[in-house]
Amino acid sequence: MEHCKVQYGESCVVCPRGENLRVVMLRAGWPLYNGLARQIHCRGLGTCGTCALRIHGNVSTMTAVEKWRLNFPPHRLDQGLRLACQCQVLGDLTVAKGAGLWGHKF
Ligand code: FES
Repeated sequence: MEHCKVQYGESCVVCPRGENLRVVMLRAGWPLYNGLARQIHCRGLGTCGTCALRIHGNVSTMTAVEKWRLNFPPHRLDQGLRLACQCQVLGDLTVAKGAGLWGHKF
């Protein structure tokens, strides 16, 4: 099975290619959610928007629900963020989380 490296800050983990990025982040213990969103989020349905990340590297194309949510305030599609719960890891990645409840403030 092919594997990919995912980097967050100084930390790096390896996961199977095609794994869900939200699952990878949570397993690594990285801060996918900010503040209250740690307790209150949609658990990966793509509707709350709080798992937003800046991603460098190859992930799956945007799902319909992801596109809808990232086009809805406080997100804007032109910010170029992605929702971890909707992304499959398809190559080596570097991810970064912004500030704010939705993680959209860089
Ligand atoms: S966990 Fe809610 S949009 Fe990803």
